[in-house]
Amino acid sequence: MNPLPDCILCPLGTQGRRWTVPGAGPVPSTVMLVGEAPGAEEDATAVPFVGASGRKLRESLVRLGYDPDQMYITNLVKCRPPQNRDPLQVEVDICTAHFLRLEIATVNPQVIVAVGRYALGHFLLGGAISDAHGKPRWVGGRVLLPVYHPAATLYSPQMETVFQADLAALTAALELARYGDRVVRVNDGIAPRASVVALDTETRIRDGQIVCYSTAVSGEEAWVEKR
Ligand code: URA
Repeated sequence: MNPLPDCILCPLGTQGRRWTVPGAGPVPSTVMLVGEAPGAEEDATAVPFVGASGRKLRESLVRLGYDPDQMYITNLVKCRPPQNRDPLQVEVDICTAHFLRLEIATVNPQVIVAVGRYALGHFLLGGAISDAHGKPRWVGGRVLLPVYHPAATLYSPQMETVFQADLAALTAALELARYGDRVVRVNDGIAPRASVVALDTETRIRDGQIVCYSTAVSGEEAWVEKR
């Protein structure tokens, strides 16, 4: 994204922030991560998620085999709130109507990772992060994956495992976006690499009804589809 104009549409624009911090990453992008708001380091550099939380997020993605540079990373509000206070609803409303809505349309992600409770609250009205985290779901024609904010792991080490499991659900979120609700299981790498391809369809019968069928194909994937 191009540098954002110095925005003063909401009160955050005149409360000491240095930059209106734009999203960063490829456009379009399959995965879009939406955090809460820039912190001190983001405000100093005009790049989202480059402070302690950002490093945790990026390192965790790399450990899971993802390249964060191939993802579009942005925030709900683009200006740092004073003393990193929580963004006010009016700030979220003004900023998202002005920037995030356009970013989503432009980036056109298949999966939106809502990082933290504020981002979740924007995409899923009334959604509680304690219930929704780590569970991909369809929202408005895209897959939403709510995850705890990486800052939670910095203050509370027992959140580390929860956060890592939340991010690991990105694989399931991408599968949901790619295959839809009909696919209930995808296993990578169980089909043989071969020049001759065997296609095998199996059915399971319950009370005389076919309830699902599974199909294995050549290459790297096999999956089970609901009927
Ligand atoms: N926390 C966020 O939610 N976003 C950032 O860019 C940095 C920290």
